[in-house]
Amino acid sequence: MTGLFDLAGKVAIVTGSTKGIGRAATEALAAHGAKVVISSRNQDACEAVAAEIDARHGAGTALAVAASISDKAALEHLVAETRRAFGRIDILVCNAASNPYYGPLEGIADEQFRKILDNNILSNHWLIQMVSPEMRARKDGSIIIVSSIGGLRGSPVIGAYNVSKAADFQLARNYAVEFGPDNVRVNCIAPGLIKTDFARALWEDPERIKVTNSTTPLRRIGEPEEIAGAVVYLASKASAFMTGQAMVIDGGVTI
Ligand SMILES: NC(=O)c1ccc[n+]([C@@H]2O[C@H](COP(=O)([O-])OP(=O)(O)OC[C@H]3O[C@@H](n4cnc5c(N)ncnc54)[C@H](OP(=O)(O)O)[C@@H]3O)[C@@H](O)[C@H]2O)c1
Repeated sequence: MTGLFDLAGKVAIVTGSTKGIGRAATEALAAHGAKVVISSRNQDACEAVAAEIDARHGAGTALAVAASISDKAALEHLVAETRRAFGRIDILVCNAASNPYYGPLEGIADEQFRKILDNNILSNHWLIQMVSPEMRARKDGSIIIVSSIGGLRGSPVIGAYNVSKAADFQLARNYAVEFGPDNVRVNCIAPGLIKTDFARALWEDPERIKVTNSTTPLRRIGEPEEIAGAVVYLASKASAFMTGQAMVIDGGVTI
């Protein structure tokens, strides 16, 4: 049972991996033996993170390929460059997402709503379409979507984002049904509040964070590294019989 989490020989693409949850996930995947592809909109930032990972885990562990998740051609380039450098894709982590609107859903502009749906749902679907044929042919692959506990709840402030994150749960369930016969698994992770730049507005204000902490069973918000173990679990054979599910990691908030 010692090799349950071993990812030696595996190749993982992680979108949004220069910071936060994606950055922590690439570190953990590399520590378990995977080659990792660092991606965000900024090539310099990708290269800086790839260099750090190479320094820690050996030259050639990480590849840097910038791609905006709203640009289908850029995502195709990300997948093509990964295959050129590493020859295969075994693990896809759809982690990058957008939330350009705070306020009641009733007041959101069509353009803002579309941006959220495009970046948080359609781009995941595109990437899954791009990588799944080789995974299905090999009868092995793991796709992980970083959703949110927002997808389990209503909100007066981030409603459209929550709609998109709820759709990610269903995207995983649906692809799990389609790909299950070929042993390609698709799961979500649903983090609660994690201390990253993305959620800064929700934890930086001392009064707001006091209320959040007091209503969280573990009495604190999470760190990006506390999501990384779930990524390794879902990527590895430790989770071989799990597909179409969502792992909630939220300090107990939703219980
Ligand atoms: N933090 C939380 O409390 C929390 C809770 C639940 C779920 N989540 C989810 O966790 C995921 C990661 O969020 P995080 O908190 O780790 O965010 P973060 O620390 O702000 O990191 C976001 C990463 O995504 C990249 N990115 C942003 N927009 C992008 C785009 N359009 N195309 C490609 N890359 C893009 C960023 O780099 P560039 O800006 O340079 O492109 C960065 O590498 C998201 O799906 C988010 O919804 C977060």
